Amino acid sequence: MTIPFSFRLEAPDFIPSYYDTHIKRTLSAMQGQFLDQNAYDRMRAEDDTLLYEVYEIHRPEVPGELSHGISIVHPGRVGAEYAMTKGHFHRVLDTSEIYHCLKGHGFMVMESPEGEWAVEELSPGTVLYVLPCWAHRSVNVGAGEDLVTFFAYPGHAGHDYGTIEARGFRKLVLDRNGAPAIVDNPRWVKAASS
Ligand code: 6PG
Ligand code: NI
Repeated sequence: MTIPFSFRLEAPDFIPSYYDTHIKRTLSAMQGQFLDQNAYDRMRAEDDTLLYEVYEIHRPEVPGELSHGISIVHPGRVGAEYAMTKGHFHRVLDTSEIYHCLKGHGFMVMESPEGEWAVEELSPGTVLYVLPCWAHRSVNVGAGEDLVTFFAYPGHAGHDYGTIEARGFRKLVLDRNGAPAIVDNPRWVKAASS
């Protein structure tokens, strides 16, 4: 698009009327990221379940542009752990992101490079500002409903998945007696202090 453009997001699924890429993340893309590895292996042996989808509208990867789109995390659990995205820092670390929750119930688990953590609840109408340098992961705690968010971030930000794959997030969201609980990740690895 070389002229200003618009598209529609409409209930019930909020799939953009225009998008460039449609990413589908399945269980196999989340190898090693769920706490209960046995539960993961059992589920994986049965089916490579679709966990979440991203519809993205691409813009030139330059600071003055904003990439944007829709993230849909489908409901479910692996063991006691709720369905979640991989989570990432932006490759250009000091870049922020805005999320607007359109549907569902969830949490955004966030973490700074130094290991500070923050968890914000998401429900329709929530607007979340993810500060520069904070990694972010969407978690769907809703029973049977998709967690849908609209997101926008600087065009040049990029994604660093490796750091989170290596050290995990400090906090996890697990089901405890039918309700979401934010717990310490026993496998979390504190970043080596520089
Ligand atoms: C981004 C956004 C967002 C995110 C999706 C999927 O930087 O592109 O944070 O679009 O990519 O919610 O999550 P993962 O990128 O962690 O798989
Ligand atoms: Ni991001």
